Amino acid sequence: MHCYRASVLRFDSQRQPVFDNDGLLVVDQNENGRQVVVDVGDHAALKARYAEVPTTDWRGRIMAPGFVDMHVHYPQTDVIGAPADGLLPWLENYTFPHEARFYDPAYARSVADFFFDELQRHGVTTALTFATSHPASVTAAFEAARERGLRFITGKVLQDRHSPDGVRDETEQSLIDTEALIQRWHGVDRLGYAITPRFAPTSSPAQLRGAGELAAKYADVWIQSHVAENLDEIRWARELFPDAASYLGIYGDAGLMRQRAIYAHCIHFSHADRVLMQRSGAVAAVCPTSNLFLGSGFFDFAAADAAGMRYGLASDVGGGTSFSPFKTMLAAYCVGREGQSKTGLSLRPSQLWWQHTTGAAEALGLGGVVGNLQPGCEADFVVLNPEATPILARKTQQTNSLEELLFALIVLGDERVVERTVIAGRPS
Ligand code: GUN
Ligand code: ZN
Repeated sequence: MHCYRASVLRFDSQRQPVFDNDGLLVVDQNENGRQVVVDVGDHAALKARYAEVPTTDWRGRIMAPGFVDMHVHYPQTDVIGAPADGLLPWLENYTFPHEARFYDPAYARSVADFFFDELQRHGVTTALTFATSHPASVTAAFEAARERGLRFITGKVLQDRHSPDGVRDETEQSLIDTEALIQRWHGVDRLGYAITPRFAPTSSPAQLRGAGELAAKYADVWIQSHVAENLDEIRWARELFPDAASYLGIYGDAGLMRQRAIYAHCIHFSHADRVLMQRSGAVAAVCPTSNLFLGSGFFDFAAADAAGMRYGLASDVGGGTSFSPFKTMLAAYCVGREGQSKTGLSLRPSQLWWQHTTGAAEALGLGGVVGNLQPGCEADFVVLNPEATPILARKTQQTNSLEELLFALIVLGDERVVERTVIAGRPS
């Protein structure tokens, strides 16, 4: 058992922040051998109970749940900042040629190691990530994540058409490879598998159907894909699947809409699409830096809320421009202000933070497991320095409420704020 003394941020079941200014976080091994939070709260109230337990003193810092990135592409680490006229030219000219290199296990492993170092520096402790179409890219990422003790989800990309040599896979073999990877990796330590059709335009109907059959056979495996990101992409998808009720409907028809299905972007949706998301239990990964960078559009937070559709935040690197959850939360705020609904939403700072921690974990079906610091949660957390830069020190000293403090961190923060990232009770 170990105690940590600092300010503590966590969230209650109503999505509201709970903040102990002088807090205590108590971590111990559970019956499965995992390091979990066993107690948390005000230091003065808890100190007598844990007087004999070794305590790390981090006063002046804030312990907060590790961030959860709901959608990122580890093989696109080196694609960040590639200029293009929009999604489809960006894929063709930069992304596919780069992803073709991941047939090589050693190369894949070297990028995976760099990627996980970056996540850690930025305070991201769980990610749902695309690999590439090469099974070796999945194995490399799982092996690297396992060595680090991470809770981590990935999958082999399925793309059997409209894709260049080097990334295009073959329908039957792609499904055989997917099932073999599920059996090898899903549920090993803290790892999980995601069935990963890239997006409808690059999968044949047979490949999507096969993916849907695997999703039915392995109900606790995740599904991840892209949808309704870009107008040219939508036109293309509708031409290829003229019988579907909408782009999203293509996935529904293939049996790919269910709990634990995560669709990136979900920008250009109708009300019926949002209702289909809500009814099926599928969730959206909102990727604001990517959507701004690629000029894709604005996620409509108000319409999503009105339909009861669930969502969380994501970087979408390399369409996204940063691994930093602070940059993602700030971009989400700006998108909410300027979004297509023209409601000029002011998303509350604590709600942005919730969407990138507890809310993202819940959307992944990992509520109570990661993304929070309530008792029972795995001990993945960040230690933040609210005075990490001169402007932050100046600003945070003048804040008068928790919302103001969190907003200062969101607007001015980056990886310099993240002093430590603790994974499974092990500090960096
Ligand atoms: N749609 C299909 N593939 C991709 C991808 O790699 N990135 C983004 N942003 N959208 C996609
Ligand atoms: Zn993506």
